[in-house]
Amino acid sequence: MKRIFLSGFMLMCSLVSYGQNTISMDAKGSDQKISRHIYGHFAEHLGRSIYGGFYVGEDNTTIPHTNGVRNDVIAALKKLKIANLRWPGGCFADTYQWKDGIGPKSERPTIVNTWWGNVTEDNSFGTHDFLNMCEELGTEPYLAANIGSGTVQDVMDWVQYVNFEGESPMSKLRRENGREKPWNVKFWGVGNEAWGCGGNMQPDYYADEYRKYATFMAGWTNEGGLYRIASGANSADYNWTETLMKNIPSSMVSGVALHHYSVIDWSAKGPATGFSEQQYFTTMQRALFMDELITKHSAIMDKYDPEKKIALVVDEWGGWYEVEPGTNPGFLYQQNTMRDAMIAGATLNIFHKHSDRVRMANLAQTVNVLQAVILTEEEKMLLTPTYHVMEMYNVHQDATLLPMTVKSNDYVMGNEKLPAISASASRDANGLTHVSLVNIDAKQKQEVTINIEGGNYKTVSGRILSSKNVGDFNTFESPNKITPQAFKGAKLKGNNLTVTLPPFSVVVLEMK
Ligand code: AHR
Repeated sequence: MKRIFLSGFMLMCSLVSYGQNTISMDAKGSDQKISRHIYGHFAEHLGRSIYGGFYVGEDNTTIPHTNGVRNDVIAALKKLKIANLRWPGGCFADTYQWKDGIGPKSERPTIVNTWWGNVTEDNSFGTHDFLNMCEELGTEPYLAANIGSGTVQDVMDWVQYVNFEGESPMSKLRRENGREKPWNVKFWGVGNEAWGCGGNMQPDYYADEYRKYATFMAGWTNEGGLYRIASGANSADYNWTETLMKNIPSSMVSGVALHHYSVIDWSAKGPATGFSEQQYFTTMQRALFMDELITKHSAIMDKYDPEKKIALVVDEWGGWYEVEPGTNPGFLYQQNTMRDAMIAGATLNIFHKHSDRVRMANLAQTVNVLQAVILTEEEKMLLTPTYHVMEMYNVHQDATLLPMTVKSNDYVMGNEKLPAISASASRDANGLTHVSLVNIDAKQKQEVTINIEGGNYKTVSGRILSSKNVGDFNTFESPNKITPQAFKGAKLKGNNLTVTLPPFSVVVLEMK
């Protein structure tokens, strides 16, 4: 009797501490690929993103660089395998006159960046600098064209300048500026946030503007055609997506964008570090809302495009907090903690799940702005927890999605709850299966049982990103405080995998 009571008590304890998270994974696969372009990044002329972040100038003698672009940043981004890079904005894009950024640097006009701190911009980083940097990084450029304050002619000229091989006024100018072959840029944003900083337009007016610009851009393509992306909705503005899908012929658009930031409250964003558990919980609530957003925007797109030819392009996402104390409020410089690692891991799992419709995305932003993967301070550089998650997850790029059904315990905060666990899985071209797991619970470890259907795996290994406190972050003095470590908490028995996830941790497993 005593023994029965004791084993019952022990069972109860294990339920309380671990709970019952169960996942079923279909190892037979699917016809769905996870596009590598979900792993895109974003570099705006904003604060210390371009100047000081990517670019330190050709004449810099203290920071090692290649044509003015920091070597440490190039090496880190190559390792990250960033699939595409969006530039020059953001809000800045709809004020950017691309012709200001070509030709001899000493002759380029100086402008004022009215969106971000009213700072002087000398245009020393322009089209050639950006596109050559993309070649160096092995990433595809994604240019955001100015339709807010730029003319149709300006946009046509830009496409012609960067893409046209034959003899034309703009290809001649490109050659005069030192570049013989076109770069053949495929991804083009037709404006940015047209509902806001891109011109405060109504959706049907923007749809007409889109049609006009998209028409004339198309005349200057070489191989493969242009992948034109319409400026999309602000979070839950479903009417925006509906109006665009109704009014833009599918032959004229490859992607419709969506912007969603994990912000607690636009008027009280809270600090990037030293936040409370309630602030952490609310940030995660905003991040997980991405699932509902994609589901609802996709349902609208399905009505007009049941074959899913048009992608949902989440070209701005990430956490947004108060700037670091003492820094320029217009520079959006924020630290990056384990909270950001949770946003990154959970959001990528959501993108994977919806990879039939979400085929491109851009984290905002790459260096020194918002949820950055890299921070710099003069000659110093550090990789943030977000960087490490994106690096661990890059094994999913262009891999086949293995469908999952996730039953999660709750992470409870007062009267509210969120699923503690999120997960996704894929099989790569070499036959390796990768499973990504996130436990956002700030206090409880979680034991997860994964039932594998149709697999025959013999070994499992993995890496984990975790830390002592959810508010922990890397500093220039201690840049390796948070880095991925070998993970020993997964056990494989036949078709049954059990994984113990510490609180606020990200794990990526590899199975053969
Ligand atoms: O990423 C910062 C800003 O957020 C972008 O410039 C704009 O598109 C968005 O509102």
